[in-house]
Amino acid sequence: MKNYLMAPSILSANFASLGEETARVISAGANIVHFDVMDNHYVPNLTMGPIVLKALRRYGITVPIDVHLMAKPVDRLILDFSDAGASYITFHPEASDHIDRSLQLIKDNGCKAGLVFNPATSLNYLEYVMNKLDVILLMSVNPCFSGQSFLSSTFEKLRQARQIIDRSGRNIRLAVDGGIKIDNIAAVASAGADMFVIGSAIFSQPDYRIVINAMRQALIRVM
Ligand code: DX5
Ligand code: ZN
Repeated sequence: MKNYLMAPSILSANFASLGEETARVISAGANIVHFDVMDNHYVPNLTMGPIVLKALRRYGITVPIDVHLMAKPVDRLILDFSDAGASYITFHPEASDHIDRSLQLIKDNGCKAGLVFNPATSLNYLEYVMNKLDVILLMSVNPCFSGQSFLSSTFEKLRQARQIIDRSGRNIRLAVDGGIKIDNIAAVASAGADMFVIGSAIFSQPDYRIVINAMRQALIRVM
């Protein structure tokens, strides 16, 4: 089996006990913590800033934290989140006037870098920056809220992104975010994804381990 990464989105966790919830999902088998940053400007919702990430690090969360910026502009936030302890920082190409420079800023500050593509955003943005990417994240919903349904147009886009990555010969993760459930994760992996952002499917259930195990079980059958 491929080395699949499970990245629960703590946007769906109980914010009143975020440290405990994050620790609980990690001990249930999560590999990475997905941290959704929304600014009421790039998307009409407002979530968490760098002090929340720093608080999770102080609480004792040591696994990689993947910061998904749904915010603009991004450069100041890149500095603040790398200082706060981010491991990955990803942003939407529409949110930076200087995509190459923002990617380089992430790398220069010691984090893994990625671009995020909304359902209607073209993969053409990849063309000149493959050498700066550690992850490509395809949104399978329009960003803003957890609990939305997976958009089936994502399958073809995943196949295209997988081809682009394979042709590049680079070690770049292909992540998907939005509407991932036990019953669609295998199809999503078959289309080329190897990192899964999962919010409501995990946090709506009492036992996170059962959901993560069921997802890993579904992935065993994927070639
Ligand atoms: C959506 C966020 C996602 C979201 C995923 O805008 O980027 O990370 O929390 O949640 P589910 O899995 O419920 O779609
Ligand atoms: Zn996200």
